[in-house]
Amino acid sequence: MKFKPAKWPRKLRSAAWYEGSTKDVIYHRGWMKNQGYPDDLFDGRPIIGILNTWSDMTPCNGHLRELAEKVKAGIWEAGGFPMEVPVFSASENTFRPTAMMFRNLAALSIEEQIRGQPMDGCVLMVGCDKTTPSLLMAAASCDLPSIVVTGGPMLNGWFQGERVGAGTHLWRFSEAVKAGEMTQEAFLSAESAVTRSSGTCNTMGTASSMASMSEALGMALSGNAAIPAVDSRRRVMAQLSGRRIVQMVKDDLKPSDILTKNAFENAIRCNGAVGGSTNTVVHMLAIAGRIGVDVTLDDWDRCGRDVSTILNLQPSGEYLMEEFFYAGGLPVVLKRLGEAGKLHKDALTVSGETVWDEVKEAVNWNEDVIRPVDKPLTTNGGIAVLKGNLAPRGAILKPSAASPHLMQHRGRAVVFEDIDDYKARINDDTLDIDETCIMVLKNCGPKGYPGMAEVGNMGLPPKVLKKGIKDMIRISDARMSGTAYGTVILHTSPEAAAGGPLAVVQSGDMIEVDVAGRRLHLEISEADLAARLSKWTPRHEMAASGYAWLHQTHVEGADTGADLNFLKGCRGAPVGKDSH
Ligand code: FES
Repeated sequence: MKFKPAKWPRKLRSAAWYEGSTKDVIYHRGWMKNQGYPDDLFDGRPIIGILNTWSDMTPCNGHLRELAEKVKAGIWEAGGFPMEVPVFSASENTFRPTAMMFRNLAALSIEEQIRGQPMDGCVLMVGCDKTTPSLLMAAASCDLPSIVVTGGPMLNGWFQGERVGAGTHLWRFSEAVKAGEMTQEAFLSAESAVTRSSGTCNTMGTASSMASMSEALGMALSGNAAIPAVDSRRRVMAQLSGRRIVQMVKDDLKPSDILTKNAFENAIRCNGAVGGSTNTVVHMLAIAGRIGVDVTLDDWDRCGRDVSTILNLQPSGEYLMEEFFYAGGLPVVLKRLGEAGKLHKDALTVSGETVWDEVKEAVNWNEDVIRPVDKPLTTNGGIAVLKGNLAPRGAILKPSAASPHLMQHRGRAVVFEDIDDYKARINDDTLDIDETCIMVLKNCGPKGYPGMAEVGNMGLPPKVLKKGIKDMIRISDARMSGTAYGTVILHTSPEAAAGGPLAVVQSGDMIEVDVAGRRLHLEISEADLAARLSKWTPRHEMAASGYAWLHQTHVEGADTGADLNFLKGCRGAPVGKDSH
């Protein structure tokens, strides 16, 4: 798609605050000058809000304050006026009950921070899992020119001679301790080795996946996703993005020009090619809902079906983000998709060029890290969307992280009514369970937990682990960490707390899983299912007040992105009334 830039110079949105000599303008401008800005900065040049999710309590984004200085340098160089604005930062590893409950609150607050202040364009400084979607959702709702700058992944972790990935090895080591294969002391000494530098998780977890999605959507400069946080080229990328956003404002290149259906299809296919996180499904649905593009779970299944995972990165593969960068990064993956006829080549990016123009010259420097299409890590990339009487609106599974022998399976359900029930019983050796059973966890969806925690990859019972078994089928309405793995069926919709069929599964029921047939079936009659549902009463607690109440009252299902129902759609960024 050829983009037609707007005429420049022209009056910008920020002129409503800073142009002229009325009392109101003097009030706005005068207060700004107490920071030492000279007169000529208020001459109609683009004012760029650097929306920064830096926080000491979001360690993955802890270096973004320093990185913002490079963004500012780029904005000054291009003739813009940078203003850094701290925004809500929900850390995946700190927030309780789960950062996901606050993704929508962050998006809501940031949307209003953009709309209520004199910004002409935005730089979205993000990194940790929820920070990227929340800022993209806010930017999509406001539709001012916006560019993503991620903080970049941390360096490789190494422990006892082994390459260890953030998150992924936490799960592996924890299971090894339970199975008696690793000591608690060794686990403790691994703690500092796994996460040893600034940056986001170095696996293809949710942070790396969302960084890849941002680039594949066209919302970040080409090559942004994989540059390590501490590499000097990350700072160069920040400076170049600062320069670029000024021109985007002059050209009036907005998210709605970039976030088209084709862009989402490119990103969905890219997620399959990189073995991306299941969390991208719910985030991309939410972003699409904000910009007003019709993307559904069926699009995820359709576009991901014939995509092979060619990136050999943990948790599906062997390497980490540092090696992905050295191999050439995401441009190589997008080029491979383009060569295979699986990329809308003319999709527009923040550069003003098409995605194909950005990636067609990319070179692969390591074919063990980014595999050739005929030697993929798995031909089963993408996300499988299963439906049936247990998930009428869908549930998802990541085949590349699952066990091939469990792709078609019939097993006896062992049901945990909620996460506390699971924690109370899982380590009990009298629990009636073996590796052929299907573990079912309820009340962990958007409404039920509340917030849809990453508990879907529930650990196996120790008595099964001790037999050397590493995987069992698990079904829930929860999410799982993008760094996790296993035959884990997630996001079951409608969720148990909303009265979905998951709520009435009983231990002893038989469940059929058929991934190739996209089927998830509870083997009871329609009449029995209807009878059980008619007697169902909610088990989860409803918050009486505060944000938790707002969230539980208004959150939608995972199948449409788990956004708050009153935040969907693009509301733009009209200049509001003056306050004085
Ligand atoms: Fe923040 Fe992984 S926990 S990026």
